[in-house]
Amino acid sequence: MSERTIPLIGFGTYRLEDHDQCAALVSEALEAGYRHVDTASAYNNEAAVGEGVRTASVPREDVVVATKVWYDRLDYGDLKRSVEVSLDRMGLSTLDLVYVHWPVSTYDPPRTFAALDMLFEDGLIDGIGVANFTIEQLESAREYCEAGIDVLQIECHPLLPQWELCEYAYSRDIDIVAHTPLLQGELEDVPELRELSADRNCSPVQVGLAWLQSRGISAIPGTSDLTHLVENFESPSIELTEDEQATIDGIERRRRIADPYFAPW
Ligand SMILES: NC(=O)c1ccc[n+]([C@@H]2O[C@H](COP(=O)([O-])OP(=O)(O)OC[C@H]3O[C@@H](n4cnc5c(N)ncnc54)[C@H](OP(=O)(O)O)[C@@H]3O)[C@@H](O)[C@H]2O)c1
Repeated sequence: MSERTIPLIGFGTYRLEDHDQCAALVSEALEAGYRHVDTASAYNNEAAVGEGVRTASVPREDVVVATKVWYDRLDYGDLKRSVEVSLDRMGLSTLDLVYVHWPVSTYDPPRTFAALDMLFEDGLIDGIGVANFTIEQLESAREYCEAGIDVLQIECHPLLPQWELCEYAYSRDIDIVAHTPLLQGELEDVPELRELSADRNCSPVQVGLAWLQSRGISAIPGTSDLTHLVENFESPSIELTEDEQATIDGIERRRRIADPYFAPW
């Protein structure tokens, strides 16, 4: 992405399918300070996300708007059309980041990235992302994508630290965005985070997000609750000590939420 960095906290919109609620929340998020909004053609809310972005008082150029192309639209012509439809639905002239949502089914690196490269050259998209890729798939994507892979989006949180994948991405200058960073709400109940948060004036969720941020990872928590929206946005102000980070690094239990039958792992 041209000179842009992904903010440490963004707003995830999966499951916000009520149009008015979603548009209002996106707009509220931007007014509260968020500058990154994540959607997907599969979330059935691109029109609402676009409306939220357009109606907020924040200049469009200050916001990273990201969407994703579903796995049945990854062949050359389909992908281009999918992005054009997303732009149309959102009422926007450009997208800051477009992801391959899952590297399966019609995913074909030469044809998929030729289409993304073309959209990039035409100025319709400003950055290219991949989601739910393995190291091997990321390696192959880098070979075919001429514009360069800007962002890897993966499930990441204290119960799924993804150490190797993150190290690989960072060593190739690829930013990381953590999806499902709150384990769809389960993060609140992780005892180590509860204990650490009790010693500070913050919540277990904020400690979990601060741990991602201490690793340089951006997160896109979702919420339909305005108190949570603000609470999540404030998490980057929490600086964990090395001991606190080590406690979370040391958690050995594993849990993955986004694990469909077609996942590539
Ligand atoms: N690339 C992919 O394949 C992929 C897959 C999944 C998700 N994603 C992206 O990642 C985003 C986040 O994932 P997600 O929304 O599924 O799950 P999540 O962010 O891990 O968790 C959302 C849940 O946490 C609760 N929550 C939010 N803030 C909280 C807080 N401060 N304290 C307590 N609970 C809180 C929410 O409930 P309330 O509404 O009550 O706050 C909601 O039930 C999605 O919106 C989407 O943009 C991408």
